[in-house]
Amino acid sequence: MTAPEVGVEDFTHVFEPATASGAPALLLLHGTGADEHDLLPLGRALAPGAALLSPRGKVTENGMNRWFRRLREGVFDVDDLIARTAELAAFVRAAILAYDLDPERIVVSGFSNGANTGAGLLLLHPGLVAGAALFAGGAPLQGREPDPVDLSGVQVFLGNGVADPITTIDQARLVAAQLGQRGADVEAREHPGGHQLTPDVLTQAREWFERAKF
Ligand code: MLT
Repeated sequence: MTAPEVGVEDFTHVFEPATASGAPALLLLHGTGADEHDLLPLGRALAPGAALLSPRGKVTENGMNRWFRRLREGVFDVDDLIARTAELAAFVRAAILAYDLDPERIVVSGFSNGANTGAGLLLLHPGLVAGAALFAGGAPLQGREPDPVDLSGVQVFLGNGVADPITTIDQARLVAAQLGQRGADVEAREHPGGHQLTPDVLTQAREWFERAKF
């Protein structure tokens, strides 16, 4: 399969340059129904001083932006996810050139549908990102076993609710296992709540980000 030809103009997006010298770049992937502005405050909280690259998902479901199609809640169109993730990976490569980002220091962060997509980038496009902080996400390929890619050196933080009715904790634990088995250094934190990012988990993610020294 050839990589799609994609330029930065192909995704509606916000780019905020780094405000601290030598800071990494954070790729922000919003959840269903949100847009490129939604996670900017999360990005600033998680990685103060980092460059922020925040695109908008191109799929719409009843007027809501998403990253890939789903057949119904919790059941993904995995072929669409694979194709859309390839297009997003090509966008990130175009943004690295357009905005002069360090290709070794891109970290993805996403919520819900954006977290699933971030996990898809890790498993399907190894080497694209150095790390990931994913909230309320699960295993993007669902029942399919991901290829045995090498994710050693990749640092991952996962935050999930044990009572999440949308992304079950089993899906969250499955993606943690898939990433860990492929060599990623995974820190998985569970909170008692549902499909949300809690203040405690955000604090844990900030501390993880600081320790990771991207
Ligand atoms: C999805 O990707 O569909 C998520 O798990 C749920 C959502 O975005 O609503």
